[in-house]
Amino acid sequence: MTVPRKVKTAYYCSQCGAQHSKWQGQCRECGQWNCLIEERVPTSTTRGGATPMAVAQRLSEVTIDRQSGFVSGIVEFDRVLGGQLLAGMTVLLGGEPGIGKSTLVLQAAEAYSQQGLRVLYITGEESLPQIKRRADRLQVKGDNITVVNCSSLEQIIERVGTNEHQVVIIDSVQTVASEMFDSPPGTVAQVREAANKLIAMSKAGGWALFLVGHVTKEGMVAGPKVLEHMVDTVVYFEGDSSHLYRMLRATKNRFGSIAEIGLFEMAERGLIEVANPSSLFLTGHSDEPRSGSVVAGIVEGNRPILVELQALVTAAGYSNPQRVAGGIDNKRLSLLLAILEKRCDYPMATNDVFVSVAGGLKLSEPGIDLPLLVAIVSSLLNRNVDSKTICVGEVGLSGEVRPVTMVDRRINEAARMGFTRMILPQANLEKSADKPIEMVGVTNLQAALEVVG
Ligand code: TYD
Ligand code: MG
Repeated sequence: MTVPRKVKTAYYCSQCGAQHSKWQGQCRECGQWNCLIEERVPTSTTRGGATPMAVAQRLSEVTIDRQSGFVSGIVEFDRVLGGQLLAGMTVLLGGEPGIGKSTLVLQAAEAYSQQGLRVLYITGEESLPQIKRRADRLQVKGDNITVVNCSSLEQIIERVGTNEHQVVIIDSVQTVASEMFDSPPGTVAQVREAANKLIAMSKAGGWALFLVGHVTKEGMVAGPKVLEHMVDTVVYFEGDSSHLYRMLRATKNRFGSIAEIGLFEMAERGLIEVANPSSLFLTGHSDEPRSGSVVAGIVEGNRPILVELQALVTAAGYSNPQRVAGGIDNKRLSLLLAILEKRCDYPMATNDVFVSVAGGLKLSEPGIDLPLLVAIVSSLLNRNVDSKTICVGEVGLSGEVRPVTMVDRRINEAARMGFTRMILPQANLEKSADKPIEMVGVTNLQAALEVVG
């Protein structure tokens, strides 16, 4: 991008928004590479006029306006927002392109519209006929939904300023640009300016605002991270676009817990709520035992989910051994393999290891360590793990098995799904009595591998 001389510019990180005076290969703040972009520094005139003096009040005397929130009726969606959408609440919905953000917000818009709320859907990405086609596919009637194709911030401000709508959706914030700025849409300055103005208007007007933002790996377009500190709630829509399952996860919520997740399945007619996730992530799991396959009892958000983990271990050629992890952090896999080699003497350095999570689910819970290692050893030794056994536990660097949280939920879910035995950390076992299935407590990795056989 060429910037005229004498204009004050700085280098902004497109991932975290940090400002740098000089160009450099790596962002000082977030450590990402090749993400600094030269942009004009916003001047005070573009920041708006003087603001009135803020009112100071004794905390004990501040009154809360107990307005009731808006419930969409899409349980998996409402739950992640903290139960309800409050007036003046701002929500950032991030996710990779093509994951289903526009589908989700259109379905939510219809749900709010059916509750009698007026919804304004502003898109800078699709034409109105394109939206109509999607709406038809999703069986969205849209009686109370107004759609506009617009990317000018000034025009959007004029439209939302009438405060006629209770819910406003901007899809996506990276397409909105102010005419006051030279920089193109999607740059850090533009995205921040748009979010700043719209958030202030949403608070003043008492309507809820959804900002949709594409996650970008690097490059010219500012990612949603740049806006995270400005909004009340940050939710990410995750999943593997080659699989059908999508997980909605809150990473920040000023009005509720972030421990909740929403699960959806992308189908022909849009997103369908998944009320019983275990049954979905076990669909490929057969009663016939197979080597390398283990069911893990994990908790995502506050929800217990049983999911099949698979491992394939084969002799490496002459090159470096391969480690390929689907749905699990690659570094974590390397660490677990190092523990296996050092503490249990398995020859991992001479083997290729591939692991994957059923359904394309992405897991970050520490409790997957033990089932993952059991699956790897099962494949290495070509020995089957009993198909009615589930496994959970965090594994420490010296091979010790550490306790996990919410163990009762995991046990009950295992019993509900017809499992008969659970291998779990000994520390968890001591705290729980009277269990519906057989419980096997283990203190270290070697013991767990012996139990499995
Ligand atoms: P979209 O909501 O456009 O993603 P985003 O806004 O995050 O970029 O959805 C993208 C994908 O979802 C698209 O490849 C097609 C698929 N899809 C379905 O499978 N079923 C549907 O009913 C719809 C509307 C989309
Ligand atoms: Mg979209």
